[in-house]
Amino acid sequence: MAEPSALHEAVAVWYATNARDLPWRRTRDPYAILVSEVMLQQTQVDRAIPKYHEFLSAFPTLQALAAAPTGDVIRAWSGMGYNNRAVRLQRTAQAVVSHHGGRLPRAVPGLLSLPGIGPYTAAAVASFAFGANVPLLDTNIYRVLSRVEHGLTPPTRKALEPLAAAWLPAPGAPLDGATWHQALMDIGATVCTVSRPRCMLCPVRAHCAAAPRLQSGDARALAESSVPYKAKQGRFEGSTRFYRGRIVAALGALANGGSLTLAALGPRVRDDFDAALHAEWLRGLVRALAKDGVVRLDDGAEATVSLP
Ligand code: ADE
Repeated sequence: MAEPSALHEAVAVWYATNARDLPWRRTRDPYAILVSEVMLQQTQVDRAIPKYHEFLSAFPTLQALAAAPTGDVIRAWSGMGYNNRAVRLQRTAQAVVSHHGGRLPRAVPGLLSLPGIGPYTAAAVASFAFGANVPLLDTNIYRVLSRVEHGLTPPTRKALEPLAAAWLPAPGAPLDGATWHQALMDIGATVCTVSRPRCMLCPVRAHCAAAPRLQSGDARALAESSVPYKAKQGRFEGSTRFYRGRIVAALGALANGGSLTLAALGPRVRDDFDAALHAEWLRGLVRALAKDGVVRLDDGAEATVSLP
């Protein structure tokens, strides 16, 4: 096992000059940090940055988000996909306003009790906003820790959790838990990448079980190591998620409060829309979106759809 204090020292030195300057690292506002973490679960950093600024200028506080028409929140989110995350984020804000006096809980259990917050988001907010020393495993951190300790035979994410906890910097270490996690995210995103790890630039290569093989450019080794890190994602165009996004975009383009019948919505969702073939398919998609709270469906003989 690598020596955690040696890792902490090396990572702290590297981060002092290599940290990415990201807007959510310049704030301690727990709400802004929550927004960033929800966005970053689905969106690459480069694309999240402008959205983060837009979203926070539209809804600068938790209170503003809680009180906004849900349609406005979905509009501000759209383009990033997974619009139900926007609905869930607003529900989180509403619960905080109703049950916590408008302040996010500071510790993981309180955060986890909120609707719309899962284990990753709870740990990220507790760590980055409130300085809690709790382990955090996103895709990048998982890949880095796993390569360091297990080389090219990664355990499952669950199985890595004890190690993530054991390697948390203790008080007195050269960096705190929040900085450790931000640094590991940067190493994962810029150095220890899935398919082209740059071990020569890595601060922990001397302690890393995977480095000797990755460094030699062994393509087979990389293929082996990459398999579990690649998200299995099918084609986006033509997928359900693609068409869900098209529906939300079509409704978002209407003047505020505008609605469409399913028959009018169809051709705005797909060029080849044919009621005989696609009406039931469209109704199914819209029903699922309505169940997630992303659209409002007034179902009837002439069903109409709008943003909530
Ligand atoms: N991915 C998830 N959270 C992140 C953060 N705070 N900084 C960079 N990438 C991230």
